[in-house]
Amino acid sequence: MLFLCLIKQKRHFVDLYTIMKIFNLTINFEEKDHSSIVLPIAEGESVLDVCMENGIELQHNCGGVCGCSTCHLYVNKGMEFLQDISDKEEDFIDRAVNPRINSRLGCQCITTTGDFEVLIPDQSGFMGH
Ligand code: FES
Repeated sequence: MLFLCLIKQKRHFVDLYTIMKIFNLTINFEEKDHSSIVLPIAEGESVLDVCMENGIELQHNCGGVCGCSTCHLYVNKGMEFLQDISDKEEDFIDRAVNPRINSRLGCQCITTTGDFEVLIPDQSGFMGH
């Protein structure tokens, strides 16, 4: 009985994995001693999620709930593949250090349909670094 249950669970996991869309996220860094990296990102995942899963430093003082601006970054390519920006996100971007037209918040930067590329600002200026 337990064996059959495990087989069913494994097949369900495989089915989920095969329907999940995976894209490429290229991350560049302002900090000169960091090299660019390309990582997989699943549909519905945020840049902050991928950074945390891979030990990449991206500040997130509010815990990723669009309540600060510390996860601010720039989208260099593929903005059209991300979820639309909300009014709340725009408000927090206005408070970020050096906001630009391609600014987004890493926790709100959620992929939907394609590959994209970001630039993570220098994180060394944040308190507690
Ligand atoms: S972690 Fe605070 S807005 Fe993204």
